[in-house]
Amino acid sequence: MFKKDFLWGGATAANQLEGAYHADGKGLSVADVMPGGKQRFQVIGSPEFAWEIDEAKYIYPNHRGIDHYERFREDIALFAEMGFKCYRFSIAWSRIFPKGDELQPNEAGLKFYDALIDECLSYGIEPVITISHYEMPLHLATAYGGWKNRQLIEFYERFAKTVLTRYGKKVNYWMTFNEINSAFHFPALSQGMVASNGGAEMQNVFQAWHNQFVASSLAVKIAREIDSTIQVGCMIIYATSYGIDSNPINQAANLVQNQEFNFFCTDVQVRGAYPAYTKRMHKKYGVDEAKLVITEEDLALLKNYPVDYIGFSYYMSMVVDETSEETEGASGNLLGGVKNPFLKASEWGWQIDPEGLRIAMNELYGRYQVPLFIVENGLGAIDEVQPDGSIEDGYRIDYLRAHIEAMKEAVEDGVDLMGYTPWGCIDLVSASTGEMSKRYGFIYVDLDDQGNGTLDRSKKASFDWYKKVIASNGADLA
Ligand code: BG6
Repeated sequence: MFKKDFLWGGATAANQLEGAYHADGKGLSVADVMPGGKQRFQVIGSPEFAWEIDEAKYIYPNHRGIDHYERFREDIALFAEMGFKCYRFSIAWSRIFPKGDELQPNEAGLKFYDALIDECLSYGIEPVITISHYEMPLHLATAYGGWKNRQLIEFYERFAKTVLTRYGKKVNYWMTFNEINSAFHFPALSQGMVASNGGAEMQNVFQAWHNQFVASSLAVKIAREIDSTIQVGCMIIYATSYGIDSNPINQAANLVQNQEFNFFCTDVQVRGAYPAYTKRMHKKYGVDEAKLVITEEDLALLKNYPVDYIGFSYYMSMVVDETSEETEGASGNLLGGVKNPFLKASEWGWQIDPEGLRIAMNELYGRYQVPLFIVENGLGAIDEVQPDGSIEDGYRIDYLRAHIEAMKEAVEDGVDLMGYTPWGCIDLVSASTGEMSKRYGFIYVDLDDQGNGTLDRSKKASFDWYKKVIASNGADLA
């Protein structure tokens, strides 16, 4: 069973719910120039994409989010009603350093998070903060070329120092970068790199990762100096991966898939050193090691300041198939792979696999033996509001129940699990499509994909269900 102080809660990211994208001195972030709609990743991934807003052509849902900036008190009160023990949110870097390269922070931005943190604490809700979640200041992407530029380490260090100093006495749990491994497939969100500023070249992606690893270790160092009890984690997407059959070729391909996608970043951030297969990976992706800037001081930082725990998102699993000529592809959060005939998929094609979560937890814990924190999980689905205003989201309850059952099994297996924060505990803007209609929440927000709606909040059936789950520390999943 789960620990007595298990951290039940929910997760969000600033760019996807705060809105107020210009308020109180905030600068533009990379998310503010990403258009809404299913074509979002195609637009960002096209060679012409130039980090510009074109309101004649697109809508920009992140500008308004769900107006959490103005309504956070109402939202936190609802989280408290569900009995949240913690709330994972991120700090919009561009609220604190509007362009990213300033020397002094924006006090108005800092005040917003003072208020948000105090609101959580007033209900006994433990804040869990992601320092950077897909929302770096746009200027760092356009003027500096994103994370491949080493100068970003210094800017991030200043940002991390500012927020850790300001909030570190009140906030015990932090994560340095959201889904740092996502850059393997799509570096726009986490590294600020698209085709026009080098995002298509793996040389740049690996350099950017290195810079982020160093920045992450610097954040751990700062946290240690402020208060040695602060827990700092890394954060990755984990997609349990299967070879399609017992053909050793497919199993070997799966091994490589795991190394490259699931383990590369945690190997560095948890173990404090580049893994043995790095050289081979560099070679495969055409990375010229002589041109990578990696200093002895950097390597010492990585060694001396690894993370304390692994935060990860888990939505789906994937299948590797090296041997079939024709296979049907599957979709997922920044991942591909082929269809798994044993699994059903969400309306967005993400393959639902609770058993895969137990496997993920065992794979991660078995490899690293540091505590795990499931900081994202959930079902993006279309919800229908009934004439009486109710929302019967039994499909979401089924998804979450099955995943919590898998978590229990993994805990029985001996995995040390700190907590569980389902994604989008309140409906918010989708990261991959900018849609509102892809909903994850226990709390419904009246807003559609075109930006119409009252923004009123209401409880879905899953709201009372999750409240019961938390109250019983996971014993009552009925
Ligand atoms: C994760 C991200 O990949 O998945 C979140 O950390 C994102 O930012 C979540 O919102 C769900 O993805 P999507 O595309 O359905 O919003």
